Amino acid sequence: MNKLPHDSAHKHVTGESVYINDIDPGTNLLHGHIVYSKYAHAKIIAVDYKKALELEGVVKILSYKDIPGDNQMGPVFHDEPCLAVNEVNFIGQAILLIAAKTKEICREAEKLVNIEYKELEAILDLDTAFNKDSRLHPSRKIECGNITEGFVNSDHILEGTLETGGQEHWYLETQSALAVPGEDQEIKVYSSTQHPSETQAIVAEVLGKFRNEVEVEVRRMGGAFGGKETQANHVAAWAALLANAAGQAVKIHLTRDEDQIMTGKRHRAKNFYKVGFNHTGQLNALKVDLHLDAGSSSDLTMAILERALFHIDNAYYIPNLRVVGHTWKTNLPSNTAFRGFGGPQGMAVIENIMDRIARFLKKDPFEIRLKNFYQNEINNITHYKQKIENNRLELLEKQILKSSEYLARRKQLKLFNNSNKYLKRGIALSPVKFGISFTTAFLNQAGALVNIYRDGTILVNHGGTEMGQGLNSKIIHVASSELGLNPVSIKINATNTSKVPNTSATAASSGSDLNGMAVKNAIDKLKLRLEVIIKGIFKNPQLNSNDIIYKNGKVFDRNNPDTSITFPELIEKAYLERTSLSATGYYKTPEIHYDREKGEGKPFHYFAFGMAVSEVEVDTLTGYVKLLRTDILHDVGRSLNEGIDMGQIEGGFIQGVGWVTTEDLKYDQNGNLLNHSPDTYKIPTIQDIPKDFRIDLLKNVPNPNTIKQSKAVGEPPFMLALSVWLAIKDAISAVGDHQFEPEFSLPATNEVILESIEKIREKIGR
Ligand code: MTE
Ligand code: HPA
Ligand code: MOS
Repeated sequence: MNKLPHDSAHKHVTGESVYINDIDPGTNLLHGHIVYSKYAHAKIIAVDYKKALELEGVVKILSYKDIPGDNQMGPVFHDEPCLAVNEVNFIGQAILLIAAKTKEICREAEKLVNIEYKELEAILDLDTAFNKDSRLHPSRKIECGNITEGFVNSDHILEGTLETGGQEHWYLETQSALAVPGEDQEIKVYSSTQHPSETQAIVAEVLGKFRNEVEVEVRRMGGAFGGKETQANHVAAWAALLANAAGQAVKIHLTRDEDQIMTGKRHRAKNFYKVGFNHTGQLNALKVDLHLDAGSSSDLTMAILERALFHIDNAYYIPNLRVVGHTWKTNLPSNTAFRGFGGPQGMAVIENIMDRIARFLKKDPFEIRLKNFYQNEINNITHYKQKIENNRLELLEKQILKSSEYLARRKQLKLFNNSNKYLKRGIALSPVKFGISFTTAFLNQAGALVNIYRDGTILVNHGGTEMGQGLNSKIIHVASSELGLNPVSIKINATNTSKVPNTSATAASSGSDLNGMAVKNAIDKLKLRLEVIIKGIFKNPQLNSNDIIYKNGKVFDRNNPDTSITFPELIEKAYLERTSLSATGYYKTPEIHYDREKGEGKPFHYFAFGMAVSEVEVDTLTGYVKLLRTDILHDVGRSLNEGIDMGQIEGGFIQGVGWVTTEDLKYDQNGNLLNHSPDTYKIPTIQDIPKDFRIDLLKNVPNPNTIKQSKAVGEPPFMLALSVWLAIKDAISAVGDHQFEPEFSLPATNEVILESIEKIREKIGR
């Protein structure tokens, strides 16, 4: 069992870990600054920055006219200008770039810039977007069974609306890039990006350079959470434009406020649903219209929408289902990837529905969930026709029901609620089934480059990026166990586009799945070459490769364990016999495919499963929520690193708790984000973790066909936080003795909770 600490943990604690803002490229460094739109929607009438250019210390000011290549940084669709031309579409959109000797000079220079705008009408919410018909792209649909018949054959039908809120990523390191011009056309960009190859591509495009002239390097990110999958490209492109124009290194490191104002967030959603079920609570038919607020441009919205459609079922078999997804353009920063990538928005709908059905039928919601879970032999095909294999729902449900004492606590809770007028407790169990693979099939590939040096040490390059999730620690484990070496003899290089080209983003929780396999593939190639040398050393030309064991820094023949050679000795020998000790590796996920027109296929290599039980206490006079206890049981296959996986489960869950409770983006009527700093935008703190927090990994569940039988873990636990939202709902419902459905949105802030309680109090006349 691997329990190595995170490879950078000690450096994070001492402050030695290097982030972009810590890199010192020498004396000639300039600071970059962005002059952005103060209007949500406006024509630019005139831009005058003559006076600003005269300010001492200002080196360059660039507008769209100074872009040598394409004025474009849209990652999928080319609908996002790098610098505004004659119209601005959100507050925070870049218009001018300033490079100066200090940040302070940049800010002084901005005060001398004069931009004349003509304000236009702005669309700032989904309802206005519907009214103005500001569709971004045509809708997408997935359908199975016969929805009309499904409703006809249902005993009961419920309809409703559920809104889910946006979310700010709040990575600790704000968006950052350092661009350093080199010889001829070369430029090197140190970027805090999840997607170095795309950053390279965008930098090359805006500068009118070839990709082989642009090198992007990422040592680590101080958190990303999807927020640096595409939107790190922006600061990288701006820094590169300034550095290219000035012939000097330029760094851009956004302030927290700039970052929160300028960058996209999780997509807000508004969903309309209609569900049909029989008198026992068995789901029969579901129709959902899902609407995402895309913001000002496409970014990854269509992929996010697709994942939302794929996760509308969460863990439940629904024989007749029709889900249609819509995307809407608004005058806000373009929304983007965020842990779960549309999954949370889809799952919130079905989980809310399960609770409504339970309340309607006066049954325990757990009973309704249990009845509808995907099963092993029957009812195991999703709405997009993927068969669910290695279903862990039953295992999870049996174990967590027992370990959390759900049923007994449900009884205690009733007693508590009956004897407390103002404090009400609620409990909820919620499952997660999350599809692992990029839903854009071609992205499911990865590369690696493994070098062995003559002293027997290993340098691994892979295409993934480290953002705190522990990918590098997992890769070290893969390499060290494949080569039988102590982890200290393995080092991972900073991710660099010149080492491994054409990589995919480290995203979709697939970082270790894809890059782990690519590294293993490179090591397999090296072992094949070493085999020749080993046969010579052991004087056994017949030696079977399966009999060659790499363990404890040595190599030996399984049948003659006494004949062995140390790894460094083997390497030196191989070198002298002229063996290439460097190999590239490659991996592509097998068998995945999806036909978008038909809405069917096998988009996911496998599913990750988890389950949570959360109990809360709501003060019905203030709306304050205490998270009393959470039990989580999660399926990570055979863990690549237990400590890191536990950390991912804790962190993902708590980030989800923020989304479902306190994180509430507030805008004024002009589209200004009002809470763009930590004093007003409330991410969870140490106070918000459950008072009693019990996490366990599901045992003895090796995942077939993945690196060391492991499972992706980055995103799935996020959605377990829906258990907290559902528990709050249960507690509020107790105010009216569970006779009324609480009217409720997500996030459940204290205000939302109080309003919902007031409505129930009106109904019961108290
Ligand atoms: N954990 C930390 N500490 N920091 C992060 O930025 N990002 C999450 C998750 N866990 C993130 C994290 C997201 S959105 C994804 S997709 C995965 O990590 C990406 O890494 P992986 O594919 O290696 O799991
Ligand atoms: N997850 C994250 N990023 C992505 C995906 C996905 O499924 N598809 C395309 N980019
Ligand atoms: Mo994660 S949202 O796929 O970067």
